[in-house]
Amino acid sequence: MEHAEDAGVYRLTDELAIIQTVDFFTPIVDDPYTFGQVAAVNALSDVYAMGGKPLTAMNIICFPIKKMDITILQQILLGGVSKMQEAGVTLVGGHSVEDDELKYGLSVTGVVHPGKVLLNRGAQVGDRLILTKPIGTGIVSTALKADRVSDELLAKSINCMTILNKAAAELVTATSGVHACTDVSGFGFLGHACEMVENSGVGMKIDTAAVPFFPEIRALVEDGIVPAGLHRNRNFRLPMIDGAAGIPHWLVDILFDPQTSGGLLIALAVDQAEGLIARMHAQGLSDAAVIGEIVAEPAGRIQLLGRSRL
Ligand code: CO
Ligand code: CO
Repeated sequence: MEHAEDAGVYRLTDELAIIQTVDFFTPIVDDPYTFGQVAAVNALSDVYAMGGKPLTAMNIICFPIKKMDITILQQILLGGVSKMQEAGVTLVGGHSVEDDELKYGLSVTGVVHPGKVLLNRGAQVGDRLILTKPIGTGIVSTALKADRVSDELLAKSINCMTILNKAAAELVTATSGVHACTDVSGFGFLGHACEMVENSGVGMKIDTAAVPFFPEIRALVEDGIVPAGLHRNRNFRLPMIDGAAGIPHWLVDILFDPQTSGGLLIALAVDQAEGLIARMHAQGLSDAAVIGEIVAEPAGRIQLLGRSRL
């Protein structure tokens, strides 16, 4: 727990460890079935980020049964189950309580070989960094509440949030030379990147022009439509980051956008990076990109490089 890992790992035997994680939250999309899907994909992600295979899950439900129609809950649970099935995960139970505010998520148990656990630390000098999904779901969810999102942008964001990190994780665990992995979630892309280098003895360079994001969110950020968590993320981690002054303000904000069900951030040996990207693209993960590299100096810090995409 000391290094803010994505999930807990407990060794059962020399060959087998279990991975446990829990995640649940309030709706970020209007459609109940879609919300169920997003919540399940998000909860499963931390097992994939550890290099594991999720096996079982339990529902966690807070539901205002006196003021909301039960069919909404049924749709949420069906959405969740659809993604558990896609992941090959068995729903083994759950618990529900009455609550004023609707919340849903999962506790997930997975397995991993104890020698093959992927930690967020361990990146080595010269490694390339790969990000597998575009950024912007937090800004889109905030803009949705302000009625500022086009159908097209909403569809893009939902598509991003409902893609399991399963395929990406299976490619990662089948690739040699992977030294670190995490998933991008509430702390934003740069927040989770900071976790990779903090007290790790290495630093990171990020090519800001290579980081994938939904292009439409630039205008939203410039209009001040950003989640409160984005400011918290930026204020917390900006002291670890060099070069932000040379990057457009809106882009720095985007790099701190809290993500729901974001992609994997992977550090791997330079000679493996191109091959992994090609295999990801072949599997339909078309936004996966090399977005930076691990450097020796300055250790424990991130340098932002690049020019604005004007
Ligand atoms: Co995580
Ligand atoms: Co989590």
